[in-house]
Amino acid sequence: MRTRVTGLTAVLVATGTVIALACAPLLAQDALYAPAQAERGSALYQERCLSCHGALTAFVPEVAALLGDHTFRNRWQGRALGELFELVRVEMPQDDPGSLTPAETADLVAYILSGNRLTAGDTPLSDVPAQLTQVLFED
Ligand code: HEC
Repeated sequence: MRTRVTGLTAVLVATGTVIALACAPLLAQDALYAPAQAERGSALYQERCLSCHGALTAFVPEVAALLGDHTFRNRWQGRALGELFELVRVEMPQDDPGSLTPAETADLVAYILSGNRLTAGDTPLSDVPAQLTQVLFED
């Protein structure tokens, strides 16, 4: 009897550890951007990005899609958001590269994240790329 209780306790402790480990990355990734950023980013996207990238609300095969299709999501999954931020700030919009402010870039990245259904919350996405090296493109 005593042994069985001890065994059960051990199983519970082990299960607790596994759950804690499984949750750790999720907690670290809590809130990648604030919804208000994505809203501002949406307006800017319609103006500056839509013509080449198509709507973020639907996958359009013939454009350079920024949605969770195989190409875009596979390319960015698990990579630092700082890289995505720098690409947008330095190379986009392709017809006027370098014209976005850091704040506009953060809004646009937030909008792209929202289109890919990544987590929003109270913490805004930083507009300093060096602060985004540990923040990953994932849920
Ligand atoms: C004149 C057309 C054009 C405009 C406008 C434009 N882009 Fe792009 N963009 C492209 C093309 C073409 C590519 C793919 C080739 C490349 O990477 O250069 C691309 C690639 C990208 C990528 C990388 C995609 C990937 O799969 O890794 C991102 C992110 C991006 N654009 C964001 C934006 C944002 C945000 C805007 C608006 C501020 C914007 N682009 C405006 C043409 C454009």
